[in-house]
Amino acid sequence: MCGIVGYVGGKQAQSVVIEGLRRLEYRGYDSAGIALVDSSTGTGQIACAKRAGKLANLEKALGEVALPESSTGIGHTRWATHGAPNDQNAHPHLGQQARVALVHNGIVENFASLRAELESAGHEMTSETDTEVAAHLLEREVQTGADLTTAMQRVCQRLEGAFTLVAVDGQDPDRVVAARRNSPLVVGIGEGENFIGSDVAAFIEHTREALELGQDQVVTITRDGVAVTGFDGTPTEGTRYHVDWDLSAAEKDGYDWFMRKEIFEQPSAVQDAMLGRHDASGRLQLDEVRISDGELREIDKIVIVACGTSNYAGLVAKYAIEHWTRIPCEVELSHEFRYRDPILTRNTLVVAMSQSGETADTLMAIRHAKEQGSRVLAICNTNGSTIPRESDAVIYTHAGPEIGVASTKGFLTQLIACYLLGLYLAQVRGTKFGDEIALVVAELEKMPEHVQTVLDDAEKIYALAAKHSKTKSVLFLGRHTGFPVALEGALKLKELAYIHAEGFAAGELKHGPIALIEEGLPVFCVVPPEGRDELRQKMISAIQEIRARGAYTIVLVEEGDDSIVPYADELIRLPRVPTLLQPVVAVVPLQLFACELATRMGHDVDQPRNLAKSVTVE
Ligand code: M6R
Repeated sequence: MCGIVGYVGGKQAQSVVIEGLRRLEYRGYDSAGIALVDSSTGTGQIACAKRAGKLANLEKALGEVALPESSTGIGHTRWATHGAPNDQNAHPHLGQQARVALVHNGIVENFASLRAELESAGHEMTSETDTEVAAHLLEREVQTGADLTTAMQRVCQRLEGAFTLVAVDGQDPDRVVAARRNSPLVVGIGEGENFIGSDVAAFIEHTREALELGQDQVVTITRDGVAVTGFDGTPTEGTRYHVDWDLSAAEKDGYDWFMRKEIFEQPSAVQDAMLGRHDASGRLQLDEVRISDGELREIDKIVIVACGTSNYAGLVAKYAIEHWTRIPCEVELSHEFRYRDPILTRNTLVVAMSQSGETADTLMAIRHAKEQGSRVLAICNTNGSTIPRESDAVIYTHAGPEIGVASTKGFLTQLIACYLLGLYLAQVRGTKFGDEIALVVAELEKMPEHVQTVLDDAEKIYALAAKHSKTKSVLFLGRHTGFPVALEGALKLKELAYIHAEGFAAGELKHGPIALIEEGLPVFCVVPPEGRDELRQKMISAIQEIRARGAYTIVLVEEGDDSIVPYADELIRLPRVPTLLQPVVAVVPLQLFACELATRMGHDVDQPRNLAKSVTVE
């Protein structure tokens, strides 16, 4: 939530910051703003512009009233927490004398008492935000003679909650200072220039060298240097790494939406998620799982914690992991898990699933699990993000940057990582023979091709979306691994098309949801493969029952299974794959449908209303 950018170097800070904000806009788009240190007048003043709404509004304003030239600046794109998304509440916020400007991602939980303290000392606030108090506190410190770095350290020690702060001081024009606690922040290392960003997309067109910061750290960047300290001023060091993707990954590449591009990237994303993780005989090698075989053998329960789409990947994983390992596996929403006193022991493996690696609810859940002595393994797409950093081990999904707010390739690669984890546990614990594992690995290896086959039929799905572009409600039904697919199909429609959509376990229909069925209601039905006939027959009965009551049935069924043809108003053919792996192919038509339907409805597919890509506040 919220994107932040900072720059100091030899280029025009305005264009670097605005370009950075464009690449971070998926993190929040309620307002955008920029502050530059006015180096032209030497007055120590900050030049600032901010506008409610998308970045385009700010760019328009900058086109009308130009800011002065500057080589030092900060910027912000907001997902509103405190205060309405209007111009006043937009960041940056200035100190009382407009000497310091500051942007913030997160929530300052003790802002009310700090605000009262400042107001009683004569400070006047101009916004309803929690952020403005930090700007005033920071400026008060520099006014006493502290440099911006020291001032930031002092202020951070007074703040409670989650925050990334980035600030500039008009009287110290070649320095940008940032700080982080429980919120993302990364430094880009250039030559004669340095960068701050919520993630590397902010500066990827300038440098692929990055510095990951730890918890409760302050970083100061100048043109030629980067210095890191703790909040108490103790010098420390970040962890340097090379970003393994480039600018083209952060471009739409001819597609109308990032989401559509990311859907079509799924065959290669799935391939990359598998790469180097098994040998030619199908034996798994997950070297990054730095938990010893002995410890893995002692695990007596797995708990997967995640939110949204990642939670649905976890639901699929439960079927596979329990089947292959016979270890009980629970899947829980991170925010429910954290606050219900879950039963955790040293032998519980907590798997934190998060595309972004920054979801606050999941982060809090793993901290709680670690306090109870459990081992934590992250499945994550974002290198160097907080969740893997705080976990005992990580399996990276290698999907490449996911920019569309709706998760697509993130989901598919999470599924692959879960299958690999399940099979690895089965290998270590001996619950499956090597040749059984090799057979599943061989099936997984075919997945990129199968996903491509589904994508090759995209036009048919688009035609279906055109046909239903006026619909007000859609249901999704599945059984077994088809159930989480139904939930994911519904979530995609809710978040993109803003229509009523619900996913149900088909067996649950007669316990209530069947009452929703009315003439013409589109219902997507995921039919299990022929290999699971007991499930398939029950699903076919459910389809007959809803069709008899007027539903318009859109049936996803594997190639060659014609038994359902008489009961399907529309057929979507899926490649033949084992039941446990079917979600990898079954979810793709649902992603395409949601993307196309939202496009036809005129919605912004990449930046749906009220949402942000990573949810960094609880
Ligand atoms: O980054 P995470 O995987 O932790 O994010 C979890 C959810 O916020 C995320 O999956 C969200 O539900 C997506 N918008 C779904 O498309």
